[in-house]
Amino acid sequence: MINYSKDPIIQYKNEKVYSPSDDTFLIVDYFRKAVTSSSFDGYNIKKVKYILDMGTGTGIIAIFLQMLSSQLSSLNPKIYASDIMKEAIICAKNNEKINNFKGEIRFIHSDLFKSFPKKLTYKFNVIIFNPPYLPALEIKTDKPSTDIDYSWNGGEEGYETLLEFFNQVVPFLNPDHNAVCLLYFITSSRVLRDNISEILLKLGFETNIIAKKHIFFEDIILNRAVRISY
Ligand SMILES: C[S@@+](CC[C@H](N)C(=O)[O-])C[C@H]1O[C@@H](n2cnc3c(N)ncnc32)[C@H](O)[C@@H]1O
Repeated sequence: MINYSKDPIIQYKNEKVYSPSDDTFLIVDYFRKAVTSSSFDGYNIKKVKYILDMGTGTGIIAIFLQMLSSQLSSLNPKIYASDIMKEAIICAKNNEKINNFKGEIRFIHSDLFKSFPKKLTYKFNVIIFNPPYLPALEIKTDKPSTDIDYSWNGGEEGYETLLEFFNQVVPFLNPDHNAVCLLYFITSSRVLRDNISEILLKLGFETNIIAKKHIFFEDIILNRAVRISY
C-alpha cells in the first residue's frame, strides 16, 4: 500500500542548517498530490530520469522524492541533492540513512552549480530550489556570511541567489525537446515575482504559481517553470 502521507524523519539538524518550515512543506505537500503512478505533475513519469534538490538543507525534499520513488515502480530517477553548506550535506546524509536510503541519493557540496561534475551537464528533468529568498535589508554587505544566513538571505533585493541559479541552470537541463524539463522554486510576495518571470521567459520558460501560503506578513509562493522554447 502506497503511503503518501508520511513525511521523512528529519532527526539530524544543525544550528547552521535550515529546519524544514512552511516553504519546505508547501513543496513536499505539492509533490504528495502531484505525483501519481503514471504522472509526474502532468508529465510522463517514466521520462523523469534525473532530479536535483538544490539547496537541500536537511535533505527533506530529496528524501521525500526518494520515498515516492521507492513506492512507485514507474518512478526511477537518479536523485541528487546539493548545498553550499557542508553542514547541510552532513545532516542530509544522516537523515538519508535514518530513512533507510543510505547511498541512494547523490550529494554534491557546491555553490549552485560551480562544483558539479561535467557528466551532469544536460541531464536534469526536474530541479527544485527552495532558495534563500528574503531581502538582506539589515545586512551590511551584500554577500551572506558563512552561517544560517545562507538559508534566508537572498541578496539585496531578495532574489539575487535565485537569478544566479537561473544564470547557471540551463546547461544542466535535459535539452531534448521530448524530455520533461521542469523547475520548481519558492518566492516570497516581498520580492518582485514579475521580474523573475520575465527573466525566465527570456531563458525559454513559462512560469506559473502552483501553490501559495499566507504566513504572517507575506505569501510564500511555489512556482513552476516549464520549458516552452529552446
Ligand atoms: C530556505 S533553505 C531550504 C532548505 C531545504 N531545501 C528546505 O526546503 O527545507 C535554502 C538552502 O539553500 C542553501 N543555499 C543558499 N545559497 C546556496 C548556494 N549558492 N548554493 C547552494 N545552496 C545554497 C542554504 O544553505 C539552505 O540550505
